[in-house]
Amino acid sequence: MTTRGVSAPGTESSGASDVPLAPPLRIGPVVVDPPVLQAPMAGFTNYAYRQIVRELGGAGLLATEMISARGFVYREARDGELPDRLWGVRDEPRPLAVQIWDNDPDMLAAVGQRLAQEFRVSVVDINFGCPVRNIAQRARSGSYLLREPERVGQLVARVVEACRPTPVTAKIRLGCTRDTINAIDVAQAVEDAGAAAITVHGRTAQDMFRGSADWQRIAQIKPHLRRMPLIGNGDLTTAAEVVEAFRRYGTDGVMIGRAALGRPWLFRQIQAALAGQPIPPDLTPAQERELLMHHYQLLVQRFGPTRATVLMRRYACRYALGRPGARMFRTYVSEVRTPEEFREVVLRYFPGQALSADSLSKRR
Ligand SMILES: Cc1cc2nc3c(=O)[nH]c(=O)nc-3n(C[C@H](O)[C@H](O)[C@H](O)COP(=O)(O)O)c2cc1C
Repeated sequence: MTTRGVSAPGTESSGASDVPLAPPLRIGPVVVDPPVLQAPMAGFTNYAYRQIVRELGGAGLLATEMISARGFVYREARDGELPDRLWGVRDEPRPLAVQIWDNDPDMLAAVGQRLAQEFRVSVVDINFGCPVRNIAQRARSGSYLLREPERVGQLVARVVEACRPTPVTAKIRLGCTRDTINAIDVAQAVEDAGAAAITVHGRTAQDMFRGSADWQRIAQIKPHLRRMPLIGNGDLTTAAEVVEAFRRYGTDGVMIGRAALGRPWLFRQIQAALAGQPIPPDLTPAQERELLMHHYQLLVQRFGPTRATVLMRRYACRYALGRPGARMFRTYVSEVRTPEEFREVVLRYFPGQALSADSLSKRR
């Protein structure tokens, strides 16, 4: 999204009264304040990342990675174990949305009900947007289902019924292809099925991540909804862009994904901008490295040093993104295998000033 001429007041003057630019969003009984959601992202938005986002503040609703309903059921039956992606879900603070995917109503309903009743999650979200081959083509789930709005409605209705009173939401793309954009039909089917909100990523499945998110198309859905809140998603990277999105496109909420992977403090910047307050500065390189090491420790506690080191490579690259020297850092950090190598590479090559030995040892 491009930004033009943004000042950042938190209210829009409309005649006699000042109307908040982005009032809290309601998803059933859940109040999302500010109406800025952290996007579900497979491979990234696990408990450690969510904890970082929570500590930094400013996101109104956090979400897990997408979880296969079938995988959940089969794994539990076979090994008596829950999916790794449920790490933290039982105990972490609310509000929290858990996203599930499948094309089978019984699977989705069974897992949705477990999440609602046993795990007491705030929101059960269903994925109808994933374009990845294994999910869309092979498993005929995610964005594959967009070609059949009626079926999407049936799936949502089953899950709504199974999860009641926990709210159920859906996340979609504009359609399967540029020639078959049908987000209005799908959104209406989702609303008629009793969903409590819908998120629309302004691309088609065919687009994958090419081009830019089409916010005009997202905005066009709004007049076709009776009561269900609309959350817009795609390409928002700064607080100013979010302010502009609320002003221009009239969605009830926005969802932020990639931009907050390396800058999880983006949410608090957005929160301040929406409230008309001064925007907190970006973290300095030294603060960012501290955060990175804290993030690493959360992963080590869960997965042990070896697996955590491998997992942390991808986050470390995101943290460095956009800083001079990021490329060299990425080259080195992509190879690390042990905690010692990881710390060494962060100390030497993370873009910005070197950490003091003292601050590193504190994190050990
Ligand atoms: C690595 C990665 C993993 C993703 N995983 C999911 C997922 O599990 N569920 C989902 O609904 N969307 C997923 N998405 C899509 C994002 O939620 C979001 O819709 C998309 O990135 C556009 O928003 P952004 O421009 O703010 O990143 C993923 C995106 C990325 C880049």
